[in-house]
Amino acid sequence: MSVSSYATPSPALQREVKRRRSFAIISHPDAGKTTLTEKFLLYGGALNLAGSVTARKNQRATTSDWMDLEKQRGISVSSTVLQFEYKDCVVNILDTPGHKDFSEDTYRVLTAVDAAVMVVDAGKGIESQTRKLFEVCRRRGVPIFTFMNKMDRPARPTLDLVDELESVLGIDAYPLNWPLGDGPRFRGVYDREHKQVHLFERTAHGSYRAPVSVKGIEDDSVKAAMEEATYAQVSDELELLEGAGAEFDIARVLAGELTPVFFGSAANNFGVQLLLDRFLELAPPPVARESEGGKIEPSSAEFSAFVFKIQANMNPKHRDRVAFIRIVSGKFERDMNVLNTRSGENVRLANSQRLFARDRETVDDAFAGDVVGLVGNYDLLIGDTLASAPGVMFDEIPRFPPECFAYLHNKSTAKYKRFRDGLAQLLKEGVASEFTLLESSGVQVPLLGAVGPLQFEVLQYRLDGEYAAETRLEQTSWSLARWLKPKEGDPLAPEARPSLSLGTALARDSNGWLVALLPSEWGLKTFEDKNEDWIISEQPFAP
Ligand code: G4P
Repeated sequence: MSVSSYATPSPALQREVKRRRSFAIISHPDAGKTTLTEKFLLYGGALNLAGSVTARKNQRATTSDWMDLEKQRGISVSSTVLQFEYKDCVVNILDTPGHKDFSEDTYRVLTAVDAAVMVVDAGKGIESQTRKLFEVCRRRGVPIFTFMNKMDRPARPTLDLVDELESVLGIDAYPLNWPLGDGPRFRGVYDREHKQVHLFERTAHGSYRAPVSVKGIEDDSVKAAMEEATYAQVSDELELLEGAGAEFDIARVLAGELTPVFFGSAANNFGVQLLLDRFLELAPPPVARESEGGKIEPSSAEFSAFVFKIQANMNPKHRDRVAFIRIVSGKFERDMNVLNTRSGENVRLANSQRLFARDRETVDDAFAGDVVGLVGNYDLLIGDTLASAPGVMFDEIPRFPPECFAYLHNKSTAKYKRFRDGLAQLLKEGVASEFTLLESSGVQVPLLGAVGPLQFEVLQYRLDGEYAAETRLEQTSWSLARWLKPKEGDPLAPEARPSLSLGTALARDSNGWLVALLPSEWGLKTFEDKNEDWIISEQPFAP
């Protein structure tokens, strides 16, 4: 069968696919991502799950004690997927770890979403982690919706917040609603599309839906609800906004060029439903994905999916390995036989689960847009394509160039095998990547690269906890890696060598490509000048 069989639309699937919305919530730590997720779940009627999210945040022991590191550091290292139904939609929220150091995993999750909600702390504006995550979404052209959170606290001037989206992130912004004051003077939001006011009434701390009343901006009760100065200011701002005459262009939203902006307070559950309802209407259902032989449409009859995350030992009681797949097209059925198009092997997808931290539920069927956890020792790698017919291979999941490099010493010779086995598994999961130095004397100690230092900490912690292999980390001074190919000749030829600058070393990555390890951006410039006959890439080359 050829790729063309993937193009055949299946009306039966179309409805299921069309009602799916798969997205991630991205933010700088503490902007309110967890709180917003919890409120979304509340609207989906998934109250028990909402409770679990809080539990995860507050007493991590209840849901993610498989990794005590999370408890110690108060961060979320793993990613899970939450699914719930709301109105006629099946909502998949792909949770991303929020710590600034541990971003490679987050980046991979972002390859599996169709849209993103960006939460910004309105008192702080765009922060560093938000910017990084935004860039990853933009590179993929993913539509981004903005939620300006914490309006119940003193916020930056509203116009500045909107300007900043344009000046700092370089994305056009279209506020769909506008805040009526901020901090103690926050009275609600004005819905520009429907020309309605939603008044905010303070309630018990976010424990139930905030009552909203809907009126026009000129309504006397709206004037009465606000201090005179606030009302005057909001009226001026709105006039300015309307005067600017910008059109809301959904095509530009879907192309990732324009971000709809909402204001509210997640903790007080205010503005959350406005965001969720409008987001579900505007965000795209699962989109077609590029494959080697052409685009694969989500509602085609054939099943296809790709692996975007692998995690071993999520549950110490089971000691198993979970490969998370994002379904790109068709319908998933438990026990189905599919092809791993990389290895050419047939795989029976017997143990398919939906995971929420430690809770697991067997999945019998799922559709394009959904995420399924395959539990067991499937021989899968990140980026693999699974398909019910040959001829499909999805584009590589981008690797992110490491910025930290360290030698990992095994502390006990007696446990060398465990150390190597554990390391091999964790490298397969993409926790870090290994490099082999070309010029090195004596025993080779594994040299590892990671995007952030926390990845090393996770690696050491897991080697110790899951493989009883104690290790010691020896930092190096390199902070950049560049992949190298001569412009002419065999790139893998052993004698092909660029000219080195001070402090630079040559290594090979796990696919055999030459890599230059450099101490700084400044060193890079010299290196590039010296090696004009080489292709110098920030991204690893394909295997
Ligand atoms: P994160 O997942 O992005 O890291 O943020 P999270 O939701 O955990 O929120 C970080 C802090 O900000 C929490 O406070 C949370 O309650 C608070 N927060 C979230 N939304 C709002 C909001 O709309 N208004 C205000 N004033 N605060 C908000 P915390 O003190 O860390 O935890 P907690 O004791 O409140 O649970």
